[in-house]
Amino acid sequence: MYHMEIHTNIPLKNYVTMRIGGNARFMVDVRTPSEVAEICKRAKAQQLPIYVLGGGSNTLVRDEGYQGIVVRNRIPGFHVIAETASDTTIRIGAGELWDDTVKRAVDMNLTGIEALSAIPGTTGAAPVQNIGAYGQEISETLVAVEVYDEQTDTITTLSNEACQFSYRNSIFRDGQMGRYVILTVTLRLYKSAPQPPFYAAIQKYLDEKQITLYTPQVIRDAVISIRSEKLPDPTQHPNTGSFFKNAIIEQWQLTDLRKEYPDIPTYDMPDGTFKVPTGWLIEQTGLKGQILHGMKVHDKNALVLINESATNYADLAAARDEIIGAVRDKFRIQIAQEPLEMTQ
Ligand code: EPU
Repeated sequence: MYHMEIHTNIPLKNYVTMRIGGNARFMVDVRTPSEVAEICKRAKAQQLPIYVLGGGSNTLVRDEGYQGIVVRNRIPGFHVIAETASDTTIRIGAGELWDDTVKRAVDMNLTGIEALSAIPGTTGAAPVQNIGAYGQEISETLVAVEVYDEQTDTITTLSNEACQFSYRNSIFRDGQMGRYVILTVTLRLYKSAPQPPFYAAIQKYLDEKQITLYTPQVIRDAVISIRSEKLPDPTQHPNTGSFFKNAIIEQWQLTDLRKEYPDIPTYDMPDGTFKVPTGWLIEQTGLKGQILHGMKVHDKNALVLINESATNYADLAAARDEIIGAVRDKFRIQIAQEPLEMTQ
C-alpha cells in the first residue's frame, strides 16, 4: 500500500516563486481526498497547523519558515460531469496546473476562462484569491468547490455564493483562512464564442492581427502574448505576479484626489466604489524601475516586485513597506499586499 511520505526541514524558498523564506518543519504531498483527511487528522492530533501550497506563486514565506505541515496539493482529475446544448460542466482536481485546465477547456472550444490563460499556480489555488485578468474572474464560471473541512472533519461542497467572492478575495483567504482544503473545483463553461467588448489590450491585439473571428483559442493566444510582455517569467526573475492589489476607494476620496491629480485613472466598481490601478500610483511616486533592498519595482509594470538579489524576507518587507509608505504619503491611499503569507 502506498503511504504518504512526510519530509522534514524542507527549504521553502525552493517551493515558492519569490525564492525567499526559511524551512518547513514538515512537508507532504497529497494526491487523494482520503490522504487530505488523514494528514488533517494527524495534524490535529499533534496540534500542528497546516498550510496548503499549490504552485507557490502567490505565497510568501518568512525567514523563520513554517513550524507546521506544508501540504502540497497534487490531487489530479479533469472530468466532464454535465452537459447541455449551451454549456459544459467540468470538475477539476485541485492539484492540476491552472493553465493546463485553461488549455484543455480552450481545446474543447469552451469559453469562460480563456482570458485567465498563463496564470501560474494550481487549479485549487485559483478560487482562493478569485483570480481575475483581462475581463474574466473565476467567480463568474465557478459552480462549486469540494472541500475538506478541518473544523468538522468532513468533505462538503461549497456553492459559489458560499465562497463569498469579491475582487481578489474569498472566504478561503479572508474569514475562514485555514479551515478548508480545496479538493476539486467545478466550472461551468459555455459553447458560445467569446463576446466583445474585450479588455482594451486584447482588442488592440485583435485589431493589429485583423482578427474578427473570436474563438477561445484566439483570446488565449492574445492573453499569452500580452502577459509575456508585461509580466516577468518567475523561473527567470523570481516574483509573485501583482505584488499589490489595486486600490478600492470611495467617491469622496476620489473627488478629493481629482483636485490634485485630475488624470488619476479609475474603474467603476458595481457597488459605487472606484478601483484605482496601484501600478499607476506607484509609478507616480517615481519608484518604477528602482531597486529597494534587492527588490526591483518592475520597469514594465510597477505592480510587480522582482527579487533581484534579496535573500531574506526582511529585505522584501522593507521594500514593500517603503512602497506602501510612498503611496500613502503622496495619495493618502493605503495599498495592500496581494500574495498570502505562510504564518502559523
Ligand atoms: N499602470 C500604470 N503603470 C504601471 C502599471 C499599470 O500606469 O506601471 C496603469 C495603467 O493605467 C493601466 C492600468 O494601470 O491601464 C491597469 O494595468 P494592467 O491592465 O496591466 O492591469 P493591472 O491593474 O496592473 C490587473 C491584475 C493582473 C491582471 C491584469 C489584467 C490585480 C492585482 N492585478 O493588473 O493580475 O493580469 O489586471 O487584467 O488586480 C496578478 O494578480 O498577479 C495579476 C497579474
